[in-house]
Amino acid sequence: MNSTNQSLKPLTTKINDNGNIEIGGCDLVGLAEKYGTPLYVIDEYTLRSVCRDYRDAFKNYPKVNMMYASKALCNMGISSVLASEGFGFDVVSAGEIYTVFKAGVDMAKVLFNGNNKSFDELSLAMRLGVGRISVDNFFELSLLNEIAKSYNKTADILLRITPGIECHTHEYIQTGHLDSKFGFDLTQIDEAVELILNYYTNLKLHGLHAHIGSQIFETSIYGDEIEILVKEIARLDEKFGLKPDEINAGGGLGVKYTNSDCPPSVYTIADIMINRLNECIEKYKIDPPSLFIEPGRSIISTSGVTLYTIGSSKIVPKGKTYFAVDGGMADNARPSMYGAQYYAEIANKPDYEHADTVTIAGRFCESGDILIKDIKMPEPEEGDILCVYNTGAYNYSMASNYNRVQKPAMVLVNNSQSDIIIKRETLNDLIFHDEIPGRLRK
Ligand code: LLP
Repeated sequence: MNSTNQSLKPLTTKINDNGNIEIGGCDLVGLAEKYGTPLYVIDEYTLRSVCRDYRDAFKNYPKVNMMYASKALCNMGISSVLASEGFGFDVVSAGEIYTVFKAGVDMAKVLFNGNNKSFDELSLAMRLGVGRISVDNFFELSLLNEIAKSYNKTADILLRITPGIECHTHEYIQTGHLDSKFGFDLTQIDEAVELILNYYTNLKLHGLHAHIGSQIFETSIYGDEIEILVKEIARLDEKFGLKPDEINAGGGLGVKYTNSDCPPSVYTIADIMINRLNECIEKYKIDPPSLFIEPGRSIISTSGVTLYTIGSSKIVPKGKTYFAVDGGMADNARPSMYGAQYYAEIANKPDYEHADTVTIAGRFCESGDILIKDIKMPEPEEGDILCVYNTGAYNYSMASNYNRVQKPAMVLVNNSQSDIIIKRETLNDLIFHDEIPGRLRK
């Protein structure tokens, strides 16, 4: 069965009676006029559809917990939508912990990940009652034990392991291969468990956690990952008489950025994971563990688009034709950082012939700030509204104020209604944290 992450555009995308593209019943040209550009737009219907896909796909395994990887896009509005869909949250910083806490999320359903969590961050997690902490290394084991002791609490932990699985994605977003900065090597697990059992009295081990990478199109590696996790918890049970009863397989499922991308369905991944898990339960003779997954990109990417206004253009003799937009690498770092590709349309000319090959340049002072190279579209004109698809994940969350440019606003659209969920930054926001030392003031 198909799932929402296999769609290039939000599910509610259509051409309306004005001849413009609309999403969530909202005319994109109207949204650009009302809120300005660049503008991040998130379609609530699409977001809720993905959540439904995940729930349906995994419904045949009785103990599944969906955790949304907040790093893909974290703000209070999105956290509220996902909490209402029954999702927990994978967080990686004090900022993400605080955001979900302020959004009213049940902190017992939050898991704290990261390869170098600080004393302050771990303390905040303990104080706010974060449900699980995935401990990444020996240093963190002892630090967390001390912090838990000082609060007179027990920290509920998983051990993050490096399963030794190499997936074929961009090198920067592979994480499960052996020589990775994340997690305990398989050969280090026993030493970590011995420390927990013999010395670290304020830690309780619930299970193991792994994450193999991101924007993954392969399917069978999820089964291999499940087998490694189950084999290890069975081994820990046998060797230490422990009954770790949780495995967390991380996230990673890919999305469709361009027409040539064919990501697998959530249903396919779920079948592979559940079948292998059931086989392994028999094979390694363990009680069925709770399965946690923590997808980020495949939850939020498809529901998001970014609107820009076309400004200047430049035709290079015997070269490219550039059209510049009012945003770029500071609101979407992925093309310049990973060579990521995106698809776009002109929101006010959706049914014009795609006759020209153009390059969409950003407005930032860097030659590498190119959003889309050589895309076919109707010739853009100044003032046209460009809609770039599949920008929900890792766009806002990786945005910067490069060139001292304000970060865009974000609206949530649904049933012809649009609501601001992140306000556009103002010039005063940009200087809010600046100080001029007294001795320099006249
Ligand atoms: N769990 C852990 C432990 C992770 O490190 C990640 C992503 C996820 C879950 C969620 O993975 P997803 O389902 O989103 O693939 N900035 C990069 C992506 C970095 C992903 C880092 N970890 C990009 O823009 O492609």
